[in-house]
Amino acid sequence: MSKTIIRGGLVITATEETRADVLVDGEQVAAIAAPAIAEQWVSNADTVIDASGHYVIPGGVDGHTHMQMPFGGTFASDTFETGTRAAAWGGTTTIVDFAIQPVGGSPREGLDAWHAKADGQCAIDYGFHMILSDVGEEALKEMDTLVAEGITSFKMFMAYPGVFYSDDGRILRAMQQAADNGALTMMHAENGIAIDVLVQQALAAGRTDPRFHGQVRHPLLEAEATHRAIQLSRVAGAPLYVVHVSAAEAVAEITRARDNGLNVFGETCPQYLFLTVDDLARPEFEGAKYVCSTPLRPAEHQADLWRALRTNDLSVVSTDHCPFCFKDQKELGRGDFSKIPNGIPGVENRIDLLHQAVVEGRINRRRWIELACATPARMFGLQPRKGTIAPGADADIVIYDPSAQHVLSAETHHMNVDYNAYEGKQITGRVRTVLSRGEVVVDDGTYTGRAGRGRFLARDTCQYLI
Ligand code: URP
Ligand code: ZN
Ligand code: ZN
Ligand code: ZN
Repeated sequence: MSKTIIRGGLVITATEETRADVLVDGEQVAAIAAPAIAEQWVSNADTVIDASGHYVIPGGVDGHTHMQMPFGGTFASDTFETGTRAAAWGGTTTIVDFAIQPVGGSPREGLDAWHAKADGQCAIDYGFHMILSDVGEEALKEMDTLVAEGITSFKMFMAYPGVFYSDDGRILRAMQQAADNGALTMMHAENGIAIDVLVQQALAAGRTDPRFHGQVRHPLLEAEATHRAIQLSRVAGAPLYVVHVSAAEAVAEITRARDNGLNVFGETCPQYLFLTVDDLARPEFEGAKYVCSTPLRPAEHQADLWRALRTNDLSVVSTDHCPFCFKDQKELGRGDFSKIPNGIPGVENRIDLLHQAVVEGRINRRRWIELACATPARMFGLQPRKGTIAPGADADIVIYDPSAQHVLSAETHHMNVDYNAYEGKQITGRVRTVLSRGEVVVDDGTYTGRAGRGRFLARDTCQYLI
């Protein structure tokens, strides 16, 4: 087995910052030691990587992506091949993507289909959540077998009636099953029935531009659904993870639940931290680039999101990476905002954007790692392998240059989409070298990985419960 030493960097995990050297043996971290002690390893090493002046951090864990997801008659433009390669470029070495139960079909069929899409394609390790879009007796039984296979989290939608929507009874029933089998329920919390009324009214009144997407998906309809999801999870006695939280009023619901000691967790995404309704209102239909659900909010919501990220009322930042090209896909909704495919690209940009937040003093370095690596790993049952640098963990390691300057742009990104939502944004900090299970896959602007080296991760149940 090949031995690599990463020398001279500042090793940052969710709990420590230490000047230390890291010994990688094969696919795993073998040891971390003070440089004077690590000196003795050098003669045995096959490769010595100089990390002086750099951070040595765990590879990012993005717990929310949608590679080649079907939506509104089209597919998210990143495949598992292109999307995981872009993730690696951006310092993310694990994704958890969403397999989808087809309506009228079983979760098993959905899982088989997603395995077929991802198998042999991924540059980095990957797991699956399961989207339940048709909760019946069969699906409930299958939840148990899926949990045993490492699909330990299930997303349901209070939004998108007629597509992914589950009513409260189905949600409660699935939560009861989760209380039994240890699964984590992930909720898209927006009152989709009420939103659809507002959509129809807006369209009837000729309000068809992308910015109306933000207006009809009212923050109170996110808060209401979040509240309802929390109460249903309490009745079922099951933990709850609310995805893509964007409204201050929804954060307040999660904060209250957590103050009461409940196993309720919230996730937000870079788009809600760095973009606003002003982007949705860009002229010439450009706002379509910023259509996602929950929607971007007025800037004043962001202070609450940052506060909650500091207090752990929001515990995870993932991307909800769901790219659709502006030219041939977002176009489907010209003249009717409700037909714009929902989603924003970002899997490559998350680690950098959160580092920018460190530079700006919004969070500290350990919290950066906690939000982007350690907590998602524990939330989704990937410890001890992922999310930290420790003996026995997978050697998923990023060597990060904290002072390099670069500009986010579609010209230079690796995501398979024709725009970057953060186009022109100046970032301090940059990924230099990425190791995935001990193998260098990105180094100094060169991709050295390959499709198919990423492995499926059978996950444990949530390791983050109170
Ligand atoms: O707009 C979004 N978020 N698209 C992806 C699907 C979802 O609801 O997460
Ligand atoms: Zn969602
Ligand atoms: Zn999503
Ligand atoms: Zn395209």
